[in-house]
Amino acid sequence: MTFRGAIIGCGFFAQNHLRAWAELADVAIVAVCDSDADRARTTARVHNIGRVYADAADLLEHEQLDFIDVATTPESHRDLVELAASRCRLVICQKPIANTYADALAMVAAAEAAGATLMVHENFRWQKPYREIARRIAAGDIGTPRFARISFRHGVDNYVNQPYLKRIERFALMDMGLHLFDLARQLINEVETVSCRTQRRNPEVRGEDAFTALLGHVGGATTVLDCSYHSVIRPEPFPQTTAWIEGDDASLSLTADYRLQWHRHDGVREVLLEPPVPVWGAPPWHGVMDSVRAFESHVVDVLNGRAEPEPSGRHNLMTLALALASYDSAERDETIAIDAWIEARE
Ligand SMILES: NC(=O)c1ccc[n+]([C@@H]2O[C@H](COP(=O)([O-])OP(=O)(O)OC[C@H]3O[C@@H](n4cnc5c(N)ncnc54)[C@H](O)[C@@H]3O)[C@@H](O)[C@H]2O)c1
Repeated sequence: MTFRGAIIGCGFFAQNHLRAWAELADVAIVAVCDSDADRARTTARVHNIGRVYADAADLLEHEQLDFIDVATTPESHRDLVELAASRCRLVICQKPIANTYADALAMVAAAEAAGATLMVHENFRWQKPYREIARRIAAGDIGTPRFARISFRHGVDNYVNQPYLKRIERFALMDMGLHLFDLARQLINEVETVSCRTQRRNPEVRGEDAFTALLGHVGGATTVLDCSYHSVIRPEPFPQTTAWIEGDDASLSLTADYRLQWHRHDGVREVLLEPPVPVWGAPPWHGVMDSVRAFESHVVDVLNGRAEPEPSGRHNLMTLALALASYDSAERDETIAIDAWIEARE
């Protein structure tokens, strides 16, 4: 069976979505939509897609679709997801699902009321090394996890591809933080408390471009998440996320060269988990590109009824809550109990 899909938003990251969709035999992207009509036309030409729209309502009125892939920036997500959920059975929304918890909650409720599946394009948990780390922790390779440090630091000029990142008031936590909170939930378990400090390191950037967050997990494990877009590190690790995870019996370490080490009492074993460079991509982006392909392949499994959405819109509410609560923590210099933070908003 071939699933018919369309993409809304033909900007920087959508190009990766489209290349990856083109690799999947069970999917046909039949239409593209962007409010910038030139951009929509160019994207359709480059990816050889027949139908082009500048308006999402127009697209949804004229196309019979199994799924919609929303790849716009977050201020448009709620309207687009609510519209798409009323017309097709599966909607994918890029992260951040929304800029506010109220919007995200409304989107989840709207999808559920319409009987549509809402997924969030949260691809970091689909990166090859993180699938393997999650598998090993679940298999008991380190014993009960007690501590994790997950780190994303670099000094690459992201603003060339994503100029809006320089202008947004809430930047690092809402851009990269969401991925890191999701990884902490995937690898360790659910979170009870968060405290956070933010920094603005690059004077040309409006929002915070660095943060350090401390998570208290259910059962007592601790995670430190640290992120910076303004670090001098050689060799440049971008866009790798590194990790150090300790359990009662052993530890796992992932470095920026895709090297996963398993530290045990009797020594260290290691494996290289670098994914192949896709024909349509180039280093250093291949780890991220491979995770987009893995996520989209998972979407096909969901469409086929072979898998539960990972992550669903509902699951992603907690991830968004952690990022938003981190701003409150940083502002007030307080530790936030996340269930109470959410309860006050539901
Ligand atoms: N998961 C990841 O690894 C990853 C990486 C980069 C970006 N992103 C996310 O992807 C999203 C898009 O980022 P980007 O850098 O591609 O942005 P972008 O600005 O390059 O592209 C967004 C596009 O959406 C279009 N658009 C906006 N509102 C629209 C609407 N209502 N209808 C139709 N088109 C509309 C814009 O014209 C633009 O072409 C963001 O939410 C960003 O956080 C995720």
